[in-house]
Amino acid sequence: MDLYKLMKNRRSTREYITKKIPKEKLDSILQAGQFSPSGANQKPFVYIVIDEPDLKKKIKNYCELIDKNFFDNSPKVLKKFMKGRKISLKKDFLVDAPHLVIVAGETDKPSWLESTWISISYVILAAEYEGLATLTYTPAEFDFLKDLLNLPENLEPVLIMPIGYAKNR
Ligand SMILES: Cc1cc2nc3c(=O)[nH]c(=O)nc-3n(C[C@H](O)[C@H](O)[C@H](O)COP(=O)(O)O)c2cc1C
Repeated sequence: MDLYKLMKNRRSTREYITKKIPKEKLDSILQAGQFSPSGANQKPFVYIVIDEPDLKKKIKNYCELIDKNFFDNSPKVLKKFMKGRKISLKKDFLVDAPHLVIVAGETDKPSWLESTWISISYVILAAEYEGLATLTYTPAEFDFLKDLLNLPENLEPVLIMPIGYAKNR
């Protein structure tokens, strides 16, 4: 498929079916994240794939609480945007999508945050190329994930990315 067309067609997806992704496909998509440029070529990011239903449910519960609190205290412009886009405070995609990919950056490496997000862009486009859907979901805080996944001090989660098949596409 034409690259520009692929970029233009990509959409954030907030509704998924539970159908699993073949392992080779998921591996290829995540591999694409390793091809991006990074500060001093350090590739300062880690992709953690979560499939276990219980863990996904826990993440969903935390995120719904965090986002509700954030939304209640957020500026009008954000409330209006979310309403306009019909973005719900229910985060069913966190359990419906077969895989949640947590992306964390290594904070002790140069340009870790920029490098991590460039890598994420590659993964998003690779998923689109494979006919899969993603979302760049960023709850208002990530501390709960550090505890839940027992991450070392230098690993900072920046994204929860559901990957799967879109419900309506
Ligand atoms: C850094 C970043 C954070 C985002 N955080 C969220 C989020 O927490 N929840 C959500 O539903 N969408 C989130 N999005 C998705 C945007 O709302 C979406 O990309 C934008 O509305 C444009 O829609 P499109 O991706 O379909 O083109 C985020 C996007 C980016 C780049």
